[in-house]
Amino acid sequence: MIKIAITGKGGVGKTTFSGVMSRLLARDGYDVLAIDADPDMNLASSLGIAEPPRPLTDYKELIEERAGEPGGMFKYNPKVDDVVDKFGVIGPDGVKMLVMGTVERGGSGCMCPASSFLRALLRHVVLKDSSAVIMDMEAGIEHLGRGTTKGIDLMIVVVEPGMRSIETAERIKRLAGEVGVKHLAAVINKGTSSDVKPKLVEMGIPVLGEIPFSPDLMTADFEGKAPLDADVENIGSFIAIKDSMLEMIKDFSENETE
Ligand SMILES: Nc1ncnc2c1ncn2[C@@H]1O[C@H](COP(=O)(O)OP(=O)(O)O)[C@@H](O)[C@H]1O
Ligand SMILES: [Mg+2]
Repeated sequence: MIKIAITGKGGVGKTTFSGVMSRLLARDGYDVLAIDADPDMNLASSLGIAEPPRPLTDYKELIEERAGEPGGMFKYNPKVDDVVDKFGVIGPDGVKMLVMGTVERGGSGCMCPASSFLRALLRHVVLKDSSAVIMDMEAGIEHLGRGTTKGIDLMIVVVEPGMRSIETAERIKRLAGEVGVKHLAAVINKGTSSDVKPKLVEMGIPVLGEIPFSPDLMTADFEGKAPLDADVENIGSFIAIKDSMLEMIKDFSENETE
């Protein structure tokens, strides 16, 4: 089982990447769960799902019932094993999808029933060896707390050629260590530039690959089509990244079980 979180600055291509990667992994035989964890909620279209499921945070009563307790306390391990079947949808290539919705949070991460529920979901929802979870995260890093990132095997930061996006990667790198993310890697999207990769490597962030700027991807987005259902030229670069990502995961899981 692998759990991957996709992060980065706003607009760099997190959702595009999450959608394509989910479907490529499904085509490889993984049992894929794609989670839209961005309050903006637009992962569905990049997966080719026309009708996304309702966000989990809409089910306030269910969350209260399972995670809440009278007096404002909450349970640490609410029941979540049926959540994907009940509240998810299945899209092209058999990818299952869940939408988290908007979770209120305080300064250091909210201790409310909804976030307890979502944390438990991430920890427990997928149990099969052949499973892969891809989480499309909110832009930036402010939301990265120990809770949401617990159990993530690999965090991928999407970077576009540009200093601001590289700075975001640097901050993510610093914070990732603090919140217990063990492995961080980068994907360079929207163009290649000889400057970007060395900078990332210097920061200690390995680069899985680069995706060229592709007007096809923008057209697909405008038409509300998933890149894999449109005539997009650069799918090969996504496939190469998927392969190096699987290779990296294999390497570190072998080292960790030794
Ligand atoms: N390699 C690329 N070339 C050109 N446009 C891209 C590329 N990757 C993503 N885009 C476009 O950039 C915009 C933002 O992408 P999106 O995946 O929504 O970013 P994020 O989720 O990080 O905010 C979309 O219009 C998308 O189609
Ligand atoms: Mg997005």
